[in-house]
Amino acid sequence: MGATAFKLEAIETASRDELQALQLQRLQWSLRHAYDNVAHYREAFDAAGAHPDDLRSLADLAKFPFTTKQSLRDNYPYGMFAIPREQIVRIHASSGTTGKPTVVGYSQNDIDTWANCVARSIRAAGARPGDTCHISYGYGLFTGGLGAHYGAERLGLTVVPFGGGQTERQVQLIQDFKPDIIMVTPSYMLAIADEMERQGIDPAGTSLRTGIFGAEPWTPEMRSAIEQRLSLSAVDIYGLSEVMGPGVASECAESKDGPTVWEDHFYPEIIDPDTGEVLPDGEFGELVFTSLSKEALPIIRYRTRDLTRLLPANPANSGRTMRRMQKITGRSDDMMIVRGVNVFPTQIEELILKQPLLSPHYQCVLTREGPLDALTVRVEVKAETGAAQADSARLALMHDIKAYIGTSADVVILAVGGIERSVGKAKRVIDQRNKP
Ligand code: DLL
Repeated sequence: MGATAFKLEAIETASRDELQALQLQRLQWSLRHAYDNVAHYREAFDAAGAHPDDLRSLADLAKFPFTTKQSLRDNYPYGMFAIPREQIVRIHASSGTTGKPTVVGYSQNDIDTWANCVARSIRAAGARPGDTCHISYGYGLFTGGLGAHYGAERLGLTVVPFGGGQTERQVQLIQDFKPDIIMVTPSYMLAIADEMERQGIDPAGTSLRTGIFGAEPWTPEMRSAIEQRLSLSAVDIYGLSEVMGPGVASECAESKDGPTVWEDHFYPEIIDPDTGEVLPDGEFGELVFTSLSKEALPIIRYRTRDLTRLLPANPANSGRTMRRMQKITGRSDDMMIVRGVNVFPTQIEELILKQPLLSPHYQCVLTREGPLDALTVRVEVKAETGAAQADSARLALMHDIKAYIGTSADVVILAVGGIERSVGKAKRVIDQRNKP
């Protein structure tokens, strides 16, 4: 499909000056809206000595306080909403493994903006009106399913709203309905591919042309593995409930070099996670977002805990001028400290995928050995692997972890199916350190 065979929204190719003028105007509105309507923001801004009138340039945003997941928990369920409850047309919530869930709300305009951002994302992935889209992100309180759904409909796709689970049936409907596009977590895509093979179906032979994968970190190596196995083009979609849901940023099919941030609605900053200082574009740190147009839940300088850096627009992306973020390879929550060395699960994933006999179904188990943390990597072999070969793959992976990451880890090889399959986000880190 030619890169110019469709029309982008004007703002996608606006000049930086034009975009920044819009951002400034919207940011002033968003700060004022939060201050006037949410007690939490009024108190936090007053305590920091920052008033919405003080924002005269985009850089002035640094004067305003951060918002964290804890701020939302403290105001559970509706305390962060800036419009009357009767004007909220939708609620989503994160499951929250500990404590109360995080609740988010949307006005009708917010739902429209969200659908537009997701439609933009799906189009950037290469989909066109008339395509069929199979959605395997979970429907319900999770933002993945409904977020993808409204965006796909907005773009004019035929939507198959499958949701997560019932993997055998997912395969059957992919065979029968012949979708062009699939939207799913990368780890569940692998589980679907496994099920295809179990049923004697070649995963590379389906109708799928494009996969729009997100909701969890996945490496460039995982991208290549999925693209080869399923013979499709895999792009990365990013987002989080507190900021909106999927479609805060999404990758362009032309370059696949990190999600383009839809900067007309979400203003990104990168900060030093220890000092909170704003870092220049290109430097690694924690991603922070401020919503520019959200009515129900304005979110000011939200600390995502996702680690990445901001990159300039790639002109190859059909002239889109918004900045990109590097593909996220870690969340500060998932960082393991093993014998003093920081390790992210994605670093392990990268090394597993270098081993032709191992499959990327894996988990990192943390235990305590005396005063030190110990890491065990549990990973599955591919179906055709014999015991001797499996053992050499085990030794090779242990060697690579030591050589490339700089810490020792034990590796346990499991047979096919040994790692529990998740139908949504994969659980990569099992922390057993506080177990007796
Ligand atoms: O996961 C929204 C979403 C749904 C995004 C479907 C993409 C596709 P939450 O459940 O609130 O929302 O989780 C947000 O998931 O802070 C990241 O840590 C992680 N995450 C989301 N997308 C990506 C991605 C949805 N493409 C949290 N790469 C975020 C890496 C991602 N991590």
